[in-house]
Amino acid sequence: MSAFSKIESAYEKFGADEPFYAVLTEEKYKRKQLDQDLFFSTGKELLARQMQLIHDRELHVPRGNALDFGCGVGRLTNAMAAYFDEVIGVDISSTMIGNANKLKRRPNCSFQVNKRPDLSVFDENQFDFIYSDITIQHIPSPESESYIRDFFRILAPGGLAIFLVPDGPVLRPNSLPARFDKFYREQVRPFHKRIRGKYEVQVHRISQPRVETIIEESGGNLLSVESHPKWAERSKRYKPLYYWASKPAG
Ligand SMILES: C[S@@+](CC[C@H](N)C(=O)[O-])C[C@H]1O[C@@H](n2cnc3c(N)ncnc32)[C@H](O)[C@@H]1O
Repeated sequence: MSAFSKIESAYEKFGADEPFYAVLTEEKYKRKQLDQDLFFSTGKELLARQMQLIHDRELHVPRGNALDFGCGVGRLTNAMAAYFDEVIGVDISSTMIGNANKLKRRPNCSFQVNKRPDLSVFDENQFDFIYSDITIQHIPSPESESYIRDFFRILAPGGLAIFLVPDGPVLRPNSLPARFDKFYREQVRPFHKRIRGKYEVQVHRISQPRVETIIEESGGNLLSVESHPKWAERSKRYKPLYYWASKPAG
C-alpha cells in the first residue's frame, strides 16, 4: 500500500472511531467526554484570529466562495461560513465527511469527499479564499505538493490562500538523506506509533524554500510566512509555518 493510501485508510478508521480526537489529539476530545461546543469553539477562535489579521493587513478578500482543504468534521468549515457566502469542506475520508454532514452548524457550508491526489474536482478560479490547517503535514510528497500547486489553479484572481506546512531541512530530491527522511516519516514513525497503541499518522515536512518555489511556480504571490503561535514556543522539532499567498488579480 502506498504512503498516500495508508493515510486515507487511517483517516477512514479515525473518522469512524474517534473523529474529534483525530483532529485535536487531546484526551478531552475523545468521544466519551466530548464537549462538542468546546471543540467547535476552537475553530471559531482560530478563524476569528486569521480574519482579524486579514483585516489588519488591509487585504481585500472577496467574501464569495471559500474552500477548507482537509476539513475533518468541519471544525473550521463551519467557522468560515460566518465570513463567506458559500464554504466547501473537502476531505479524503468519507467517515470524516459523514460526521461533518451530521454535525453541520450552518446552512451555507457543504462537504465533499475527494480521494484523488489533486483538486481536479474543482474548477479553475472557483474560490476567493482557501484555508488549510493541520492537514498538508499528513500527506506525503509528491501528493502534498500537487495539492499546493492546485490551490493556485482553483483560487480566483484576487483571492487568498492560507495554509499550514511544517518546515524541514532543505534536502536534494532523491538524495540519500531525502530518501531516509521519507522512509522514516512514511514507515518508521507510524510503526513506532502503532506498537505504542497510538494513532498511526504520518507527519511530513517541506522546507520553506521548497514551498516558496512551489507557490512561485504555480503563479501565486507569497505575502508572508509565519510561525504557528502555539507551536513556535512548544517544540524544537515541529515547526509549522502558515503561508499566506494571493493570486494576482489579472
Ligand atoms: C488533523 S485533521 C484536521 C481537520 C481540520 N483541518 C481541522 O483543523 O479541524 C486532518 C484531516 O486531513 C484529512 N486529510 C488527510 N489527507 C488528505 C487529503 N489527501 N485530502 C484531503 N484531506 C486529507 C484527514 O482525513 C483529516 O480529516
